[in-house]
Amino acid sequence: MSAVRLVDVGKVRGAGRHAVQALRAVTLAIEPGEFVLLEGPSGAGKTTLLSVSAGLLTPDEGDVTLAGRSLLKLSAAERRAHRARNVGFVFQRGNLLDGLSVRENVLVAAEIAGIPRQVGEEDAAHLLAVLGVDHLAERRPDALSGGEEHRVAVARALVHRPAVVFADEPTGNLDGASGQAVAEALSELAKADAVAVIVATHDERLRRFADRRLSIVDGVVHPTE
Ligand SMILES: Nc1ncnc2c1ncn2[C@@H]1O[C@H](COP(=O)(O)OP(=O)(O)OP(=O)(O)O)[C@@H](O)[C@H]1O
Ligand SMILES: [Mg+2]
Repeated sequence: MSAVRLVDVGKVRGAGRHAVQALRAVTLAIEPGEFVLLEGPSGAGKTTLLSVSAGLLTPDEGDVTLAGRSLLKLSAAERRAHRARNVGFVFQRGNLLDGLSVRENVLVAAEIAGIPRQVGEEDAAHLLAVLGVDHLAERRPDALSGGEEHRVAVARALVHRPAVVFADEPTGNLDGASGQAVAEALSELAKADAVAVIVATHDERLRRFADRRLSIVDGVVHPTE
């Protein structure tokens, strides 16, 4: 069973004069344990493709199956619950909750997915250490640099051991060493836990981790090479 499957997916962003056909007849499948890069210029549709695949946006055409369930057949509440259990999403902008500490931000994702507290605590501490931000666990997000915030967002996306991880420019504002830590954490997770990882990026340093590369131009997806 594929972790993610899209069949003939189309999506328009915006309305009226500003409407853009952001995805055109996209068909693809990503298997458990696969680390796939999605490359393409700004505005090509990368964020839209990740959002539609994760059930954060509804396609106008076609079908999306995620961890064995067709998202279009679920109610909004069922889709939310399915996403909380099965999806980790690293947003292009960190999206941490300001009122909570770093540690609490990560724990919330585990809690919403129904992970027992003790397991969540251990996994959160482990991930924050792997990503080199464990010394910041008690800080608030507004006291973090952009790169630190992004690494915490990666820990939050992985803590509940989702079936699929979508990462939107996860190394975008990271220097060499931090970017390497993020890429390694994602790639190890894919292999160790058979998680499907889909990363949208402009960062050529990630290519050596990829099992497969896709490129998207003007809403059309092609395999690279
Ligand atoms: N909320 C929106 N309303 C209108 N148009 C939008 C909206 N979001 C995205 N678009 C348009 O849809 C197209 C695809 O956008 P998308 O964000 O998916 O691109 P991207 O490949 O992620 O770009 P980037 O590399 O800059 O993040 C672009 O033309 C963009 O301007
Ligand atoms: Mg984007």
